[in-house]
Amino acid sequence: MYSQKIIKRFKNPKFAGEMKNSDAVGQVGNMKCGDVMKIYLKVDEKTEKIKDIKFQTFGCIAAIAASDAMCELAKGKTLKQAGKIKYSDIIKKMGGDVPKIKIHCSILGTETLREAIKNYEFKSKTKNHKN
Ligand code: FES
Repeated sequence: MYSQKIIKRFKNPKFAGEMKNSDAVGQVGNMKCGDVMKIYLKVDEKTEKIKDIKFQTFGCIAAIAASDAMCELAKGKTLKQAGKIKYSDIIKKMGGDVPKIKIHCSILGTETLREAIKNYEFKSKTKNHKN
């Protein structure tokens, strides 16, 4: 069902794990399959570039591979650029060969990243408001 590229990424994800002292967190679950994705961001305050990113995903092989591919795409990008990452970019990064019934796993990746970005923007707004 899965390509070698997807299996390889699933077995050796570079961005898996929890991040202590993250600047923002995003978490989204898919009601239908029950998979849950969580993304942690470390952001450079001046440039708004994603300095570091990690994920914790409780889900299928495609969801874990998609989380890892999404992190690889997002790292080093500004929040604005990262917010424009499409699920099709994630699929491409995974080698393109994603079963149709597993496309929603990549969509979950973009949704979770956007949640984390929103969380960062909310936190920085409220932080500035206090000052
Ligand atoms: Fe739902 Fe993979 S089966 S995210």
